[in-house]
Amino acid sequence: MNNEYIETIKSGMSKSVPPEPCIVVIFGVTGDLTHRELIPSLYALRCRNLLPKQFAIIGFARRDWSDDFFRTEMKNIMKKVNECGEKEWELFAKNLFYVRGDFNDDASTSYSDLRRRIKEVQSKLNIPDNVLFHLSTPPENYSAIIERLGRASLSKSESGWRRVIIEKPFGHDEKSARKLDDDIHKVFEEEQIFRVDHYLGKETVQNMLVFRFANPGFEPIWNRNYIENIQITVAEDLGIGTRGNFYESTGILRDMVQNHMLQLFCMAALEPPVNYDISLRSETKKVLDSVCRIDVEKDVVLGQYGSGIVKDERVVSYRVEKNVAANSTTPTFAAFKLTIDNWRWAGVPFYLRTGKRLKRKLTEVTIQFKPTPHLMFPGYKKDRLNRNVLTFRLQPNEGIIYTFMAKQPGAELKLQPVNLNFQYDTAFGISETPSAYQWLLFDAMKGDQTLFPRADWIYKAWSIIDAVIKKWEAEPWTELPNYTAGSWGPNEADKLISSGGCSWNVKD
Ligand SMILES: NC(=O)c1ccc[n+]([C@@H]2O[C@H](COP(=O)([O-])OP(=O)(O)OC[C@H]3O[C@@H](n4cnc5c(N)ncnc54)[C@H](OP(=O)(O)O)[C@@H]3O)[C@@H](O)[C@H]2O)c1
Repeated sequence: MNNEYIETIKSGMSKSVPPEPCIVVIFGVTGDLTHRELIPSLYALRCRNLLPKQFAIIGFARRDWSDDFFRTEMKNIMKKVNECGEKEWELFAKNLFYVRGDFNDDASTSYSDLRRRIKEVQSKLNIPDNVLFHLSTPPENYSAIIERLGRASLSKSESGWRRVIIEKPFGHDEKSARKLDDDIHKVFEEEQIFRVDHYLGKETVQNMLVFRFANPGFEPIWNRNYIENIQITVAEDLGIGTRGNFYESTGILRDMVQNHMLQLFCMAALEPPVNYDISLRSETKKVLDSVCRIDVEKDVVLGQYGSGIVKDERVVSYRVEKNVAANSTTPTFAAFKLTIDNWRWAGVPFYLRTGKRLKRKLTEVTIQFKPTPHLMFPGYKKDRLNRNVLTFRLQPNEGIIYTFMAKQPGAELKLQPVNLNFQYDTAFGISETPSAYQWLLFDAMKGDQTLFPRADWIYKAWSIIDAVIKKWEAEPWTELPNYTAGSWGPNEADKLISSGGCSWNVKD
């Protein structure tokens, strides 16, 4: 691979035209998401020459910080990930500003300070009136902030644009999601609203689309005639850490299934969109519309972790984690069988599983093809070994793996599964793929909503999950915990898949 090619890839692939000059206002700038994702991602865009030259960030939170203190704090977190050196950081950091305020303040106080600061920065750095607001705040603050942005005349511009990014979770059920969207629409128009599901910004998730629709070989067999089942696993080895309060009111269904898992499911199942643009969102919505009604008793397994051993360390059960009730029934594991009522997928099961404190950290989507109709090799029966499996791996070692049968070298005719393995480092010369937030922030600054879920998708996803939550909350399983930390979840999850004549692709 020549160096010029690698450099093109590293400098941001095809997304090489920076957005228009603008200011990004981050509400909740002292929080975890800003530290771990937003500032590092914006700086990485700067290092890839993908930020406009006239650009600034204004942070908003309660702490009594000055501009300089904000810059120093951000420098400290960037020490580990400074991709392009001290000089570039200093240039970036001098355009960081801070406004102190409370989200619930009256529109005439902190929000007027914010408006004044935006104007000052615009005039100092010659930035036109383009502002992207990022709500990186507790979800209960979204409506209050939006309402005050409206009252402080910050949501519209005569000469430029205003946009707003809303973090996940978008509501905690269908009703609250609808209410939140109504609140947002009182102030912003639909084309100004960017609802985040950061999985959609992941390179391999976008690569699922490229793989299917830029390569003619697989799309003709991407259907019930050739595919036996599709599996989606999002496994974490970590527990809930210090987030007991949050997790008790959320659980795995709201935290993972309603959003990330269903987005991956839609990416695997959608019909070919006409273009790679906003029409993608109609196709993902159509997938959810075609999901058959879930029989919660038969098609869902929920669980909660007990104590166990993860990565050679003894860990405690969920119920004794900090800020968790001793008799909590909050699920930390979910496995689902979903089926789709359409021409392409009739009869093909989709098995989804996700959980905390599982054996290892792993996120992948596997397409399990049907066996050959007739196996002509003596001594071999049609079994699980000789099926083709296509794996989209999101972590660890992001890439795409195709497993097929090959002859072992030697006089005897012996078959063995082998892998064709695409990895980003060998193919593109990058050891790590860019973070999802880089592309999402970049797209929002460009006004491209393709990778941001539409409100009706979110409502539909909630309506699917609400039914399961309702049933569980009314009649939770009493025998909890029902899986050992460090395992692959409850035995019932194995029974769920084996009852369909299948087994989980990942078992060790
Ligand atoms: N962290 C993640 O990895 C992650 C991933 C996906 C989605 N999200 C979503 O992103 C959002 C932010 O998460 P986070 O983890 O960054 O939360 P966090 O660490 O709790 O940060 C919350 C931020 O909001 C500020 N804040 C809270 N109440 C305020 C008020 N009344 N007035 C002014 N500032 C206030 C806090 O400022 P103070 O310093 O003044 O407290 C802090 O800056 C949440 O909706 C979360 O669900 C987070």
